[in-house]
Amino acid sequence: MDTLKFETDAELPGLATITLNRPDKLNAINSRMHAELQEVCAQLRNDSRTRVVIFTGAGRAFSAGADLKDIASLKTADSNPLELRRLAGTGNQTSAAIEALDQVTIGAVNGLAIGGAIVFLSAMDLRLAAESVWFSIPEIDLDIPLTWNALPRLMRELGPARTKELVMTGERFSVHDALRWGFLNQVTADDALEKAARALAAKLLSKDPLSLALTKSTTRALANLMVPDEPTHSDREYLMFARLLAARKDSTPPASSQ
Ligand code: COA
Repeated sequence: MDTLKFETDAELPGLATITLNRPDKLNAINSRMHAELQEVCAQLRNDSRTRVVIFTGAGRAFSAGADLKDIASLKTADSNPLELRRLAGTGNQTSAAIEALDQVTIGAVNGLAIGGAIVFLSAMDLRLAAESVWFSIPEIDLDIPLTWNALPRLMRELGPARTKELVMTGERFSVHDALRWGFLNQVTADDALEKAARALAAKLLSKDPLSLALTKSTTRALANLMVPDEPTHSDREYLMFARLLAARKDSTPPASSQ
């Protein structure tokens, strides 16, 4: 895989770690990473040996969110609109694929997490972060619609008032805020994150496998009630129109030259 590392753990059988692995681009989520995440999630759905999955990032970021260059390249006015529409649904599909895993998922947030990265984290069961991490949901200032079924998941994990504040201001927030708001389960020293995530995984793996799987399924069923499949059914349409409008805007000569 080009954008991910998938590793099993010799010391902790049943644990797999998925590392977002574009460190030179701060693990920005491009089409390739979406495709590979969906592929690895599909494999995990048929894998009854893996019971816990840790998601983390290579280098100094967990992920800087959607790849802005990828988004820019999709704005071409002459693209096939149906292909644009298909691509506009990709983020929703990846977030749903993470959330649908039968394994218990742990987000081990090693560095900054922005936009879509926070949506992915919202689709995971448990979250730990290193002390120096910061978060932000900056779409409002980037003219990018907040899609990937983000709002229902954020509201579920952070509460409505806090979510509205964060998506309307786009302000950064710290791990201490995130811990206080219940978004994080644990904050660790920067050099203790991996150990803490593996200790949590070991604790989960010590449980009866079926009891743990059934407990996860039940919590997911309840969580899904709060995020039905199509609550923001217009997500990809919204994203597609935003891209088409941006492309049209780019290709319209300024009023003075008309
Ligand atoms: N999409 C594509 N590339 C990205 C990226 C993104 N979202 N975020 C970072 N990168 C790339 C940079 O272009 C740069 O690549 P280059 O070395 O080839 O130029 C590399 O990652 C390092 O980023 P840089 O900006 O030099 O690091 P920094 O420490 O100065 O700043 C951030 C870090 C996160 C503040 C800054 O990269 C940033 O604002 N990124 C965009 C975040 C964003 O808006 N995400 C979209 C959310 S929807």
